[in-house]
Amino acid sequence: MPEYTADPSRYDGRMTYNRCGRSGLKLPAISLGLWHNFGNVDDYSNSREILRYAFDSGITHFDLANNYGPPPGSAEENFGKMYLQDFQNHRHELVISTKAGYLMWDGPYGEWGSRKYILNSLEQSLDRMNIDYVDIFYHHRPDPDTPLEESMGALATAVQQGKALYAGISNYPADKAAEAFKILKEMGTPCLIHQPRYSLLDRWIEDGLTDVLDEHGVGCITFSPLAQGQLTDRYLDGIPKDSRAGKKDGFLQESQVQENLKKVRAYADIAKDRGQSLAEMALAWTLANPTVTSTLIGASSVNQLKQNLGCLNNTIFSDDEIAKINAI
Ligand SMILES: NC(=O)c1ccc[n+]([C@@H]2O[C@H](COP(=O)([O-])OP(=O)(O)OC[C@H]3O[C@@H](n4cnc5c(N)ncnc54)[C@H](OP(=O)(O)O)[C@@H]3O)[C@@H](O)[C@H]2O)c1
Repeated sequence: MPEYTADPSRYDGRMTYNRCGRSGLKLPAISLGLWHNFGNVDDYSNSREILRYAFDSGITHFDLANNYGPPPGSAEENFGKMYLQDFQNHRHELVISTKAGYLMWDGPYGEWGSRKYILNSLEQSLDRMNIDYVDIFYHHRPDPDTPLEESMGALATAVQQGKALYAGISNYPADKAAEAFKILKEMGTPCLIHQPRYSLLDRWIEDGLTDVLDEHGVGCITFSPLAQGQLTDRYLDGIPKDSRAGKKDGFLQESQVQENLKKVRAYADIAKDRGQSLAEMALAWTLANPTVTSTLIGASSVNQLKQNLGCLNNTIFSDDEIAKINAI
């Protein structure tokens, strides 16, 4: 692959940058996640092209977690290689995040929310990614057995040590999130951001979480806004072998796809009337929620990424369109 020179026009206005809650940090409206398509089971040069294209398009935020792969850890390792090859001169232009919470190693300290696990995991993540600090460090899921003060205390320590610039939480329900925000604030490391799942097929955050985020001035980055590809034309004519639902390592179940197909077709009709692809409309719809700072997509090809960035051309919905969407 030829050497990489970042596109000098990458900040020319194609990308929108939104302030994250009441913090000083801006995030691109579209961020790129490395959950799928960056593991050792994937084609390295394809992953590298996706990352280059993202950065050239003004996507300054890459989202990882300790367990992304497969195998777990390999997405961070591959990112670390790409970082050295292509991005090390751009470290100050990048917001790199990682997380700890899911199973990462054997024994009693390899998952959930103890201080032991969270801080050891961050050390490993930094090693794998060849960086000295992450910009955002998340607790990936609430732990029912560890006091919240301990898990949040570990995030605060990471920030105090300079190994993370900001703290975040992910998958926390509204009440737990509110508690976490209070604790982090008391510790002097206010929570920057919450990362919940949100799409036309899963609107749970509207039942309380967004109010809590607005009240506390915490930003919101929504993951799986395409419902892992269901809100695209990927599955309208069956399940392709090379799709996430068709591949053995993918997290999307065929049964889920079948279950949602009727709704997806109805959304596709609305998108057509708006002159957008279904994927563009699904992403634009998440961004139309005023609490949402950034929407966090995945892509298995440069072409998908290119198509999805088109959503930024129209993120406004008429009352009539909203009514039709809500009716589905
Ligand atoms: N905090 C958490 O617990 C959590 C959980 C999940 C995800 N995340 C984060 O969110 C990121 C995004 O999640 P996600 O990958 O599920 O997001 P997504 O954007 O909903 O789904 C991405 C997938 O949809 C398909 N796709 C995307 N654009 C397409 C297009 N234009 N046409 C057809 N198919 C298209 C591709 O799958 P195929 O081509 O392979 O079919 C792609 O990999 C992750 O990488 C991770 O960073 C966080």
